[in-house]
Amino acid sequence: MSTNNHVAAVESRSQAPFYRPVTDEVEVFRAAARRGLPVLLKGPTGCGKTRFVEAMAHDLGRDLITVAGHEDMTSADLVGRFLLKGGETVWVDGPLTRAVRTGAICYLDEIVEARQDTTVVIHPLADHRRELPVDRLATTLPAAPGFQLVISYNPGYQSVLKNIKESTRQRFVAIELDFPPPEAEAEIVAHEAGVDADTARALVAVGNAIRNIDGSPLREASSTRMLILAGGLAAEGLGLRRAVQAAVVEALSDDRDVVRALGELVDAVLPGT
Ligand SMILES: Nc1ncnc2c1ncn2[C@@H]1O[C@H](COP(=O)(O)OP(=O)(O)O)[C@@H](O)[C@H]1O
Ligand SMILES: [Mg+2]
Repeated sequence: MSTNNHVAAVESRSQAPFYRPVTDEVEVFRAAARRGLPVLLKGPTGCGKTRFVEAMAHDLGRDLITVAGHEDMTSADLVGRFLLKGGETVWVDGPLTRAVRTGAICYLDEIVEARQDTTVVIHPLADHRRELPVDRLATTLPAAPGFQLVISYNPGYQSVLKNIKESTRQRFVAIELDFPPPEAEAEIVAHEAGVDADTARALVAVGNAIRNIDGSPLREASSTRMLILAGGLAAEGLGLRRAVQAAVVEALSDDRDVVRALGELVDAVLPGT
């Protein structure tokens, strides 16, 4: 198997991942899956996009092949390449080609990090043709039933529009995920971090206070993932204030003034500290 150090391809078909639906995203995804339509997941970092795809793959009984996008990614990283093996040149499918052949869900995570010439390979897969041209093999592979393309991006700092043709983009069913409302997010934090409901609610209050800062200097908001990390530290016995400092405040900024201001905000929100 090709293990390119830039491309992580992960397959799973084990236990049902815990996913707490927020609105009607599950129904929308299922409908898109029945039609084999590609899905565009939008949302800030750490809001649950990856977990959602994992849960949907399990729900639909499909294998999931995940590819983490990055700026050096080439189309060969997705499609495959000839490799030298014991003096012989052998073709090795890339993760996208494997998904096309096997009818898996292919999740291109943060794909817009990749350059334009990388994303062109997904165009004929995303539109009515549902096929993957493999130039190096001088062939075109039809996508097996069940194949579905899912791409994610963060509208806060990426412009997917610049890298994906408008005609292709229009084929995608867009699902917007955001940080869940407080009750749902507290449930998620409690479940994932293994903390009690009060601790989870306090963490969510911190998260929302930071998200709601007027004219925030932060590039990213305090994500569900960060709140879970803080909860995990608290579950390990760290004081909640210290846990938030380490997993949220210091993680969000290196600017001393910003860190101090965030710290004061956290002090105001956390009870009894
Ligand atoms: N709706 C949800 N249900 C269950 N867990 C969630 C949900 N949203 C977020 N999470 C938790 O938050 C973590 C970060 O989410 P993730 O899917 O990795 O974010 P993203 O891919 O958007 O960056 C997940 O590992 C999971 O623990
Ligand atoms: Mg992700």
